[in-house]
Amino acid sequence: MHIDKYERNWIRLAGGMLVVFLLALTVSAFFLGIQLPGIADHATPVAAAGGEFDVNRGWVRELAPGRYEVNMRARVWAFEPNEIRIPAGSTVTFYIHSDDIIHGFKIQDTTVSLMVFPDVTAMATYTFEKPGEYPFVCHEYCGAGHHFMSGRIIVEAL
Ligand code: CUA
Repeated sequence: MHIDKYERNWIRLAGGMLVVFLLALTVSAFFLGIQLPGIADHATPVAAAGGEFDVNRGWVRELAPGRYEVNMRARVWAFEPNEIRIPAGSTVTFYIHSDDIIHGFKIQDTTVSLMVFPDVTAMATYTFEKPGEYPFVCHEYCGAGHHFMSGRIIVEAL
């Protein structure tokens, strides 16, 4: 069977790339230990801090000056709490859990972007240096009211 010279070269190139990718996958999975994120990478649900804080409700608590912890609940179609006020320079750790179906949690102009599952608590920490308003939204389609699922973090100037 006659194969054109250029076609043969492209077949070789494509075949060679497949071998390279397969090698890269094999090396990263078995020798570098790179895996897809699993349950082991998620935080465990945040423990209630005494009777004052109910794990099943959203809350914000100050751990130390400039250090905050947020227990956030996502459900159709709202976040609780949906407005958080902190002073500029604060480091906030978000623990977020869904009460029903899969949601998303993305804070604009930050690196915080999480998938939110029922029965798993996702975690992210961020330091809000610049004062201003940081809107957050659900970025996983979750039904008729998906586009209403939002809130904001108000970072107040010191
Ligand atoms: Cu919740 Cu989209």
